[in-house]
Amino acid sequence: MLSEHPSYEELTRDFSWSIAEKELEYTPGDIINIGWHCSDRICQKGKADKIALYYEEFGGTRKQYTFNDIRLAGNTIGAFLRSQGIAEGDRVCLFMDRIPELYLSFLGILKMGAIVQPLFSAFGDESLFVRLENAETRAVITQKKHLSKVRKIRASLPGLEYVIIVDSIKPSELKPGEILFSLENAEPVEKFEIAPTRAETHSLLHYTSGTTGQPKGVKHVHYSIMSQYLTTKWVLDLRDDDIYWCTADPGWVTGTSYGIIGPWSLGVTQCVLDTGFSAQAWYRFIENYKITVWYSAPTAIRSLMKAGDELVKEFDLSSLRHLASVGEPLNSEAVIWSGRVFGKQFHDTFWQTETGSIMITNFPGMKIKPGSMGKTFPGITGAVLDPVTYTPIEEPGNAGLIAFRPGWPAMMRTYWRNEEKYREKFVNGWYLSGDRSSIDNEGYYWFIGRDDDVINTGGHLVSPFEVESALLEHPAVGESAVTSKPDEINMEVVKAFITLKPGFTTGPDLELEIMNFIRKKLSPLAMPQAVEFMESLPKTRSGKIMRRVLHAREWGEEIGDISTLEND
Ligand code: WT7
Repeated sequence: MLSEHPSYEELTRDFSWSIAEKELEYTPGDIINIGWHCSDRICQKGKADKIALYYEEFGGTRKQYTFNDIRLAGNTIGAFLRSQGIAEGDRVCLFMDRIPELYLSFLGILKMGAIVQPLFSAFGDESLFVRLENAETRAVITQKKHLSKVRKIRASLPGLEYVIIVDSIKPSELKPGEILFSLENAEPVEKFEIAPTRAETHSLLHYTSGTTGQPKGVKHVHYSIMSQYLTTKWVLDLRDDDIYWCTADPGWVTGTSYGIIGPWSLGVTQCVLDTGFSAQAWYRFIENYKITVWYSAPTAIRSLMKAGDELVKEFDLSSLRHLASVGEPLNSEAVIWSGRVFGKQFHDTFWQTETGSIMITNFPGMKIKPGSMGKTFPGITGAVLDPVTYTPIEEPGNAGLIAFRPGWPAMMRTYWRNEEKYREKFVNGWYLSGDRSSIDNEGYYWFIGRDDDVINTGGHLVSPFEVESALLEHPAVGESAVTSKPDEINMEVVKAFITLKPGFTTGPDLELEIMNFIRKKLSPLAMPQAVEFMESLPKTRSGKIMRRVLHAREWGEEIGDISTLEND
């Protein structure tokens, strides 16, 4: 059974964000704090002993925390940070695997009024450095296993005053300025004074990659919880007795908006599995915890498809009630397949780091059109715009730029210290998503592609610029151009085109070395899956490398206008 809520049409007709304000008992002007809302408030509602988090890791370790446990842990961490001298508005980076401390520190940082900067723990030192430098991060909370990456760059980050390690490390192993904080050994703080954060107080700083320049910090505020609460309730259809699993890592926005804030603001039990992908492990996890609502991503779904229908039959997955997907195009085959093997179809959702919450979705109870992303969430005004006039295309089926009228609570407030880039995202009062789509005669959006060179590999955005810059740091690389190539599972993967400096010779060893160089510096996601050595790269007459030409070649597309091409 799906959706006990009124229908999409009714909710859209009567929509106001005050619905969320009322349900969260928020009066405009009051203090509002995501950390408090996700823990203390739930306890006050009589759910102190309800499980908030089931955690399991690869080695089999299991832990569980009630809402009272997460409330106390948030207090304890918040008090510790405050006692160290970390102030409201400081940026505190979370650089951890998906261990419980990640989720608990998230609450603690917000409760004491600092800003959470979550970063994916697989990031290499270069990716970490540019983001910490840009945010002028004051503290990093990390694990012993990631400490070497932080140590490598610390001397170049004068603003980074605190490195806090949350798991076992001998005090004798600590370097000056490194602090051990073990939640298990800390005295629980029962009473904690929540920072007086307001609706517009900065809460989160998520980094996202663009085509040019370094990654941008997306600024979110505490009021975003209104969007996350209501979309979780209506789109993910979470109810009190659900057992929810969001497979995303909180280093990315799905893992915070819907892997922490959404479920906990509703007081719903969620599960975290801190492992890489394995079809067996995932099915076993669903079976063991009797997961009812599952929010995942197309690449994972395609990998499950590849593991085969027979495997599904070895597990009891009958607890599943509702499935949703995000991050990249969800192909119709995957929707149909899930309907066949799980008895439930994945509901696609479209949104971005910048939008903070779901914008377009196959709403529960609404007819799913496999291959379509669905319709705008109630209260969201969307359109596809003509790329020349930036006015809505009225004719159904015609491609245009996906745009939204700003004003929903979780919309980014700016790019961190880059007001100019932020302003560029708006034309004629529309926020431009940077994606292209068409809308059919029933208002369903059909995704076409991104409107820039950013590579979406397995649901993760990779900036070709970042990879190209990192490649140039390799001693053998003269010039580089990065684009994507097709991939069966990840849809697209990174491909690097390289010219070598004199004295270096091409070969599989060098190819492998370059791949690993990027993996370590940036991340496994940014690592080129193929390196092609070239005599020269296609350039415009003014000397700009034309990625477009290489991209077209990889995808077997028309190259288009190359009249400005130099060496052709
Ligand atoms: C970009 C945003 C917020 C979710 C995680 C990604 C692509 C997102 C879909 C979808 C096709 C999608 C877009 C978008 N994308 N959802 N359902 N179908 N493409 O957040 O890292 O900010 O990436 O992911 O290109 O702009 P993000």
